[in-house]
Amino acid sequence: DITPRVFSGVQPTGNLHLGNYLGAIRKFVALQESHDCIYCVVDLHSITVQLVHDDLRGQTRSITAAFLAAGIDPKQHIVFNQSRVPGHAELAWVFNCVARIGWMNRMTQFKEKAGKDRENASLGLLAYPSLMAADILLYRATHVPVGDDQKQHLELTRDIAAKFNNDFSDKIAAAGVGQPIQMGDETVNGYFPITEPLIEGPATRVMSLKDGSKKMSKSDPSDLSRINLTDDADAISRKIRKARTDPDALPSEVDGLTGRPEADNLIGIYAALAERSKAEILAEFGGRQFSEFKPAMAELAVEKLAPVSGEMRRLLAAPDHIDAVLKDGGERAGAIAAATMNDVKDIIGL
Ligand code: ADP
Ligand code: NA
Repeated sequence: DITPRVFSGVQPTGNLHLGNYLGAIRKFVALQESHDCIYCVVDLHSITVQLVHDDLRGQTRSITAAFLAAGIDPKQHIVFNQSRVPGHAELAWVFNCVARIGWMNRMTQFKEKAGKDRENASLGLLAYPSLMAADILLYRATHVPVGDDQKQHLELTRDIAAKFNNDFSDKIAAAGVGQPIQMGDETVNGYFPITEPLIEGPATRVMSLKDGSKKMSKSDPSDLSRINLTDDADAISRKIRKARTDPDALPSEVDGLTGRPEADNLIGIYAALAERSKAEILAEFGGRQFSEFKPAMAELAVEKLAPVSGEMRRLLAAPDHIDAVLKDGGERAGAIAAATMNDVKDIIGL
């Protein structure tokens, strides 16, 4: 059987925020106990929306620093950047020929990022989910921790794996590289696993602090909408103080958050930071005003984030270590990727 393996990636574009931290990076750290993990700075993805960047390598180092500062161990696991391993782009090309245009056209992230002028979006933006499938399946990863916004892309990854397994079933058998793959209730002889998304906990979708209907995002033009991992205590307190809320007191039970997206978001963030449930937080703060809750939330956020940002600054001050981690990780990832690409070429007959 295929060994359980985790893969996930973060783009080196813009500041890492609390949503990335709670929805992704903190889960990456936890999974190290139970799985072999591969964590990637997906630099090839970051040129899909905007081609020219001032300092992509600097951004790649900064995300790597965040991984290490949060507690990812690059010796036990693998940390690297995508463009170092040619298999990502190579397998993505194969998947461009497996996937159908209609599958890509349905992706909500493409529609959002392309905006009204779809004809003028890059072809790479349309094919983004195909590259993401390649990122995951190049390592035949079985589990992918991500935020809720990536759910649809993960489903597409599963569709690509299933179509590849199905269309090439005879060739996979002939090449002798098949494995028992669980597809729904059936076990078939296939090559790629049907990857499971890991989307759990109170912070799978952290919302903007300024608009409860939008997710917290690196690309939001308003800096007040997000808490950056590198914000200092003053900035964190100011942003939480200015966060949009409604005039009512906090409810004492989770049901009372229905129809109150801003309150729900702040309670969810607090619960995730405290590693407690929303119900426990409301049992403590129910009946109190946001004016009391917000300072407690700011204090907790500073307590949890300051050690991470401090360690990031320390690592970035002497980036040789980061560069060595990426080089070593790239070599180890590259060896796994090369074996997969050999099999894939045998299967297809390239
Ligand atoms: P962004 O969406 O901010 O540009 P990425 O695309 O690099 O960031 O996403 C990195 C990881 O962070 C992904 O697993 C994504 O699902 C997760 N993530 C991004 N935004 C949020 C959010 N607001 N809440 C929870 N998780 C998020
Ligand atoms: Na995203």
